[in-house]
Amino acid sequence: MAGRVIAVGCSKGGSGKSTTTCLLATAYQAQGLTVALLDADPQAHLAKWFRLWAIATGFTGEFVIDPKTSRITDAVDHNGIKLYPLVTKDDMRGKVAEAKANFDLVLIDLQGAPNNEMVFAFGAADLIVVPAQASGFDLDGLITTTSIYSEVVNMKERLTPYFVLLTFTGVPRKQSLGGKLIRQATDAYAREQISTVLKVDFAGEPHPVHVLNTELHYRQPFKSMSLTGMPPSAKDDAEAEKNQMALAQEVALVLQGQWQSEIATA
Ligand SMILES: Nc1ncnc2c1ncn2[C@@H]1O[C@H](COP(=O)(O)OP(=O)(O)OP(=O)(O)O)[C@@H](O)[C@H]1O
Ligand SMILES: [Mg+2]
Repeated sequence: MAGRVIAVGCSKGGSGKSTTTCLLATAYQAQGLTVALLDADPQAHLAKWFRLWAIATGFTGEFVIDPKTSRITDAVDHNGIKLYPLVTKDDMRGKVAEAKANFDLVLIDLQGAPNNEMVFAFGAADLIVVPAQASGFDLDGLITTTSIYSEVVNMKERLTPYFVLLTFTGVPRKQSLGGKLIRQATDAYAREQISTVLKVDFAGEPHPVHVLNTELHYRQPFKSMSLTGMPPSAKDDAEAEKNQMALAQEVALVLQGQWQSEIATA
């Protein structure tokens, strides 16, 4: 998978973009791949996570931090993952080129807004992953994101793989049967709406939007990763770790051009 670029973006805030980026990064790093992380969100959540992860996994170097904002300002490399902080549209092309030349995978975490960084990242990407909750509000975000994607691919005159990832799905362990059924039906309805209603307008023809078979379930270890830096471990939550690895595996299949909608994953 040398130098492949994955943009993780959705114009809706809080849809699971940074969590997805961290999970993919740590899954591929654990498989021995090298990963560059481009943090293109001024909130700098990816950089914040990287700092926690690096310290938790033995980083003893110094982070260069802006004392006013407490943000990491300089690129930093640890154990096969390199963080490029504070990436904007002005330096995205250069940073992507540098990262592509030196890493197996380049992941770009975008702000939850339809901005210039999204256009540049979608333009540079080999694959676009669009995390979205199974909610009507997130579906609105998908419409905006998909129209930006349509503009970019029409300019490039080439369809880049574009996949929605349903997030926060699944059944919390202590939910009533009625609650579980409603939740499952909502997740399934959102998947069907995206697959059948949402279209990409490319070269004057409507094209369907694919949804990854794997969903990112609602899981405590995915949340606590933002506090500890550490991805789920099989010892603490085998289901969460399985979910992370299934996502990484399906995304790898997409990058290799081997994705099939009927592949059943976790
Ligand atoms: N699958 C999940 N299970 C449990 N908690 C999650 C999950 N995914 C994300 N979270 C939590 O939900 C919140 C939003 O997730 P995240 O920050 O990844 O979204 P985002 O799309 O990057 O948000 P923003 O638009 O602000 O950048 C965070 O507190 C995160 O820890
Ligand atoms: Mg984020």
